[in-house]
This record gives sequence, C-alpha cells and structure tokens, in this order.
Amino acid sequence: MRRPAAFGNWKMYKRPAEAREAAAEIAARLAGSPRRADVALFPAFPALEAVAAALRAGPGGPGQVALGAQDLFWEDEGPYTGEVSGPMLAGAGCRYVLVGHSERRQLFGETDEATGRKVRAALRAGLVPVLCVGETLAEREAGDTEAVVVRQVRSGLAPAFEGPGERPGPLDLLVAYEPVWAIGTGRNASAADAAQVIARIREAARPFLGPEGAQQLRVLYGGSVKPENIGEFARHPEIDGALVGGASLEPAAFVRIVEEIEQEAGG
Ligand code: PGA
Repeated sequence: MRRPAAFGNWKMYKRPAEAREAAAEIAARLAGSPRRADVALFPAFPALEAVAAALRAGPGGPGQVALGAQDLFWEDEGPYTGEVSGPMLAGAGCRYVLVGHSERRQLFGETDEATGRKVRAALRAGLVPVLCVGETLAEREAGDTEAVVVRQVRSGLAPAFEGPGERPGPLDLLVAYEPVWAIGTGRNASAADAAQVIARIREAARPFLGPEGAQQLRVLYGGSVKPENIGEFARHPEIDGALVGGASLEPAAFVRIVEEIEQEAGG
C-alpha cells in the first residue's frame, strides 16, 4: 500500500500574511482527524517561514501538514543571485520541493538536465523532491505523451542514481504527472488516461528503483483538480493523490480534496 499525498501548490499567490492565515485555517480544519495522507503546502519563498510557524503552532501540532518549496537551485551556495538552495529550504523547515514544474519548464526554460541536477541536490539536502512531468497539448496530439514523460522521468532521476553515494529509495521522492494542457485550464485528464501514463512512469522508474521500488513509488495526478473531480482520481488504485494548484488557494476547497483522498485511502 502506498500512502497517498495531497499537495497544495500556491504558485505566485499569497503574501506572507495571507499565506500564514490560509495555512492556519487548513491546519485548524484538519485538526481532530488522524492523517491518512501526507499533506503539504508549497507557498512562495518569502512565505515559507510564516507558513512554517503557522503549521508548528497549529491545533493539530507540527507534522499534521508539512511544508514544501516550489523550486531550488542545484548548488548549495555561491554567487547565484536570485537562487535558493536545498540547505536553505531545509533550514526554513521544508520537507518537500517541487522540481521541474511545467511552468518552470515552459516559462523559464528549465531543461531536463536541470531537473536531474535539482533532484540530486534536493536529496543531498535531505529534502523529498516531487519531480513534475507532463506533456503539452501538441505532444499529446502528436501521440508523444508516453515518450515525453518517460524522457522526463529518466532525465530527472538519472543523476541521483549515478556515481558514488547512497541510492535514493522510493520513499525519498515522488513524481507528479501533470499534463500541461490540464494545468489551470479547467480541463482535466480522465483518471483512466492519467493512470495509463502513471503506469508508464513507474515502468520508467524501474531501472533506477528496481521492480519493488518502482511499485512503491508514489505518483500524483495534477491539473485542474477540484473537490468536484478529485474522487475519480483518488479512487483509482494507480493514482496516489494530487498536486493541486488553483483549488488549494481556497482552504475549504483544499481540505475537501484532502478529505476525499484520505477517505479513499482509509477504506
Ligand atoms: P491547477 O495547477 O490545479 O491550477 O491546474 C496544478 C499545478 O500546476 O500543480
């Protein structure tokens, strides 16, 4: 059994005070029920400390809801103006970090090679990377979905498994399958379509994690997830939860998504 996850990606929304308030509300709404899923919020960098403090002080106590960041640079420190490193994020209280979100790839030219370096840097800092993969509409229409996603998984994972040092296990990282055409468009993939790609993702991870490790690898769906459609994804045995953008900005909506995911997990 893979433990499901419900992650809220706040993108470039919410100033520190707003983020603190939303995080506190989410923690308060979730308090009182045992967590059957890993729940985490991914605010913008300037709001990390405020959200960390709100989650520590929350009624459910620390550990109910974890903290994640939306990106990192692959060096630990140095003259890289504007960048943020893994050790900095760990020091700010992060447990998770997104790598290769499609908005980074599409809008900021992030390459497959960069995602591999970032995954490795995240692991080195003791963070759990969430490698985001997904095809564009043009790639889907050309029939290239699986080829694109497999390439992204391989490039994202390979550097972390090369060379000396300890090999990461399936619990050290997650993958989020987010078709680009479904992000922020209100147009979601069907659970059956997503599950087919996700099965292919686990297959692509097998050379790195081994057959059992690949089976344990958690893969989330992302792209226009809402309280109204999460049930379909949460129920699918291949899909281990969701990476939620827009709907996570609204605490009540995000909590409904968490609860649906936990309900399916808890049986
Ligand atoms: P969305 O975003 O839920 O607003 O489509 C998902 C994401 O970008 O992670």
